[in-house]
Amino acid sequence: MLILNKTAGVFFKPSKRKVYEFLRSFNFHPGTLFLHKIVLGIETSCDDTAAAVVDETGNVLGEAIHSQTEVHLKTGGIVPAVAQQLHRDNIQRIVQEALSASRISPSDLSAIATTIKPGLALSLGVGLSFSLQLVGQLKKPFIPIHHMEAHALTIRLTNKVEFPFLVLLISGGHCLLALVQGVSDFLLLGKSLDIAPGDMLDKVARRLSLIKHPECSTMSGGKAIEHLAKQGNRFHFDIKPPLHHAKNCDFSFTGLQQVINKRIMKKEKEEGIEEGQVLSSAADIAATVQHTMACHIVKRTHRAILFCKQRDLLPQNNAVLVASGGVASNFYVRRALEILTNATQCTLLCPPPRLCTDNGIMIA
Ligand code: KG4
Ligand code: ZN
Repeated sequence: MLILNKTAGVFFKPSKRKVYEFLRSFNFHPGTLFLHKIVLGIETSCDDTAAAVVDETGNVLGEAIHSQTEVHLKTGGIVPAVAQQLHRDNIQRIVQEALSASRISPSDLSAIATTIKPGLALSLGVGLSFSLQLVGQLKKPFIPIHHMEAHALTIRLTNKVEFPFLVLLISGGHCLLALVQGVSDFLLLGKSLDIAPGDMLDKVARRLSLIKHPECSTMSGGKAIEHLAKQGNRFHFDIKPPLHHAKNCDFSFTGLQQVINKRIMKKEKEEGIEEGQVLSSAADIAATVQHTMACHIVKRTHRAILFCKQRDLLPQNNAVLVASGGVASNFYVRRALEILTNATQCTLLCPPPRLCTDNGIMIA
């Protein structure tokens, strides 16, 4: 943490020398002089070690990722010290792979960008100390990146999106609605009062022992729920979305998780099975939890759209809603948000699923 705070402080205000170095790092091509900045992005905030090389026009020149999902599935959740060790074991290889794929020599990089917050301190520390070492060796400028801002701005890599736009970030560690007014100008409209939706899905998947389900054994909790939900009946149980009467844009997922847990216990009794075995009604439970979560997310987002339009913070027509983060790769949630945006004359934009989950491209 000490390294983190110290480093973040130093690099948030780059020295004049570093700025001049950055400006000098334009590549020269015989016959033409054009500005061609190339950034290496490094992400280690949670359980993915990722790196990418991206140029200033958004071309992805190379990328690599090492997912820790399978290990954490076995331990029943992310153990920070285990995540840290896995990042240590893989970071050098992943950065090397991204650089090799890009065919860019490290000396031709214009800058190195790395996630500095928010996330697991032990995981962030690995990416940060690796990057600082590289920055020192290569004498390149360092760009500190806010993980959530990176998720929010990723859409600008694939679509031409003007400010302001509304962003919904739903992942394993975060849940927020914000108005994006500029690259680092965010107005927070609502957040989760307890856990994030991905965390809730991961917990439900663990309680359902989906790791033992032959079709889901290597999937993250959220992905396993989405997969099974396709075979289930979402109306099997009737569960009211949380915060039904709250007149704000906040979210809550703990209550939903507890209600689902009670249903699972009841079903286990009915089916005469022990905790740790897969219920025959697992698909119905998956469909119900996915549907209730989607309804909750859509209702809170609807409130945010109305609020922004009432106050002229967003245009009345064709306002853009961007949904990103791991849970936004869920097609049921996307479809529900699409129904909302069609009804409110807004446009829904989501990065492709592989750019919704953590990756190095969004950091670069
Ligand atoms: O953005 P992300 O890769 O990491 C952070 O949390 O920042 O999101 C990971 C989360 C996990 O909780 C995972 O279960 C969830 O996103 N997730 C999904 C899906 N794929 C991943 N949730 C719902 N449906 C999916 N298809
Ligand atoms: Zn993330």
